[in-house]
Amino acid sequence: MSTASETFEARLSRHHDELRWLYMELYNNGSMFAELIDTIRTYALARSGALQKSDASREQNPSWYKGNNLLGMMLYIDNFAGSMQGVRQKLDYIENCGVNYIHLMPFLDTTPGKSDGGYAVKDFRTVRPDLGTMEDLVSLTSACHDKGINVCMDFVMNHTSEDHEWARRARAGEGEYMSRYFFYDTFDEPALYEQTVPQVFPTTAPGNFTWLEDCHRYVMTSFYPYQWDLNYRNPRVFNEMMYNFLYLANCGIDIIRIDAVPYIWKELGTQCRNLKQVHTIVRMMRMIAEIVCPGILLLGEVVMEPEKVVPYFGTVDKPECHMLYNVTTMASTWNTVATRDTELLRSQLAAVFALPRQYVFLNYLRCHDDIGWGLDYGMLARRGITERAHKQYLNDYFQGCAGWSNSRGELYNADPVTGDARFCATTASLCGLEAAVNSGDEAAIDDAIRYDVMLHAYMFMQSGIPVLYSGDEIGQLNDYSYHNDPQKADDSRYIHRGRMDWDKAARAEVPGTVEQRLFTQLRHLEHIRRTEGAYCSDADAQVLDIEDPSVLGIQRSYQGETICGLFNFSEYDKTICVPYTGVDLVTGESDGAGDHIIPAHGFRLLKRTEQ
Ligand code: GLC
Repeated sequence: MSTASETFEARLSRHHDELRWLYMELYNNGSMFAELIDTIRTYALARSGALQKSDASREQNPSWYKGNNLLGMMLYIDNFAGSMQGVRQKLDYIENCGVNYIHLMPFLDTTPGKSDGGYAVKDFRTVRPDLGTMEDLVSLTSACHDKGINVCMDFVMNHTSEDHEWARRARAGEGEYMSRYFFYDTFDEPALYEQTVPQVFPTTAPGNFTWLEDCHRYVMTSFYPYQWDLNYRNPRVFNEMMYNFLYLANCGIDIIRIDAVPYIWKELGTQCRNLKQVHTIVRMMRMIAEIVCPGILLLGEVVMEPEKVVPYFGTVDKPECHMLYNVTTMASTWNTVATRDTELLRSQLAAVFALPRQYVFLNYLRCHDDIGWGLDYGMLARRGITERAHKQYLNDYFQGCAGWSNSRGELYNADPVTGDARFCATTASLCGLEAAVNSGDEAAIDDAIRYDVMLHAYMFMQSGIPVLYSGDEIGQLNDYSYHNDPQKADDSRYIHRGRMDWDKAARAEVPGTVEQRLFTQLRHLEHIRRTEGAYCSDADAQVLDIEDPSVLGIQRSYQGETICGLFNFSEYDKTICVPYTGVDLVTGESDGAGDHIIPAHGFRLLKRTEQ
């Protein structure tokens, strides 16, 4: 057996030349490169025995995450269970949900009221004190590993909090630290940037720079004014951030979500998004991970149109991220909910299904962020639909005031100038459960549950890894209490970041309750997904040609087995002709070829038994 040191050298030798080449191309600094290698060696040797073992076994089986057995859930530690120790006590619940991958939303130290939900990190090596300690993190990850649960965390690379030590020292005028950010004495250069760089938060944090009254300088802040963009032209920033990454990896993290990755390189005269240096940095990070902690997966957060997303997978020879979010599919799904027209979604799914199978997407209905209406407006334009009017319709629909809608939710960053707005709400409220429960309308409640389950069944049928948003398994509704919290009131994303309602969760055990009906149906779907091989990432997936535009058909085939899913986005029952005899995967009953009724907002999952 080779020692940790031999293993490190062997892994390093596989990547050394390319890593050095890219590093020198970006920084032309041999001594900083030497420091990088020496330091990552210490992280490799400091990895625990258990993590080294898992690295070795995952290295042997690099497709370990591509099957049909991973199910994720994203959760806020405080909302879910108060603290890291609390989450540890709730691992049975997580297991009971069929979940074996949890994304712990940002938990590193941050300044209350200036935290952007934890995405303004004050210290990359300290857990937010009210959530626990680094030791708690290590014991939580190891308890998760004992249960076969993978742990994901955010690595916020683009910026630090203004209260991070580097920022404080920069603010005090220490040149060494100022060079880790973008500082300007006058607005001349920022003004040039503003000509080409779009705004992330046009209403809640307009512009890309912040004036610092105390030091009489501007600093670049693409997100909130207290999130200072890091300057990756400085190799010290790159090296230190890689050390932070490895430090966290050594706490037992399995999946690192690289937050806001497209933004990390800035160049005057550009949009400062997706520049080629970003890819160089991600590629270097991937190699560093493969050298030090090959059991880790990199998940890129690229909330952009499909042409911008896919390059973050890199190439077969030079991979970058292991996984990316299927963001356009998510937005197109909600577009279909509002329009009952699957055309856009079909074309989006067909495009994703045509991509190489080694590309693994994370599929989701809702997450902690808003839904941005990033749709194929070229396609809509060909049907005479304009972008602005369509976004207006979608936002009206989901607020429940257009198009026979039962949805409830709120706008996010409504920009009066462009007319643009994004949207926030929980899955259940979007599906009409909130309105139905409030009006006590049993038929509407049934319909909302059916819709919610159908959307999950469809999401599970996409290629990749499904991720649930905590609370969705029991149909948590929008939480309007953030309106009364001055630290949150401006950010409507808090509407879907409510506390986990454990009384509601307990009702998942009580037959006939809304929670039980949702929970058990989702569990059943998870079971089907896990037991049917055609759900794996390697399966061939296709969009079926169905005449009725409100019904989506997906077929997956793998090793001679074929399953087909029919999903009805309309409020009417639909009759669809199925070409083969099969067995209904939900009821277990045999079904002949021919006409099948798909109930309003319902679905059928069929496994072909003969031609
Ligand atoms: C990511 C996060 C979002 C946050 C932003 C800034 O997009 O998902 O919640 O506001 O990064 O860090």
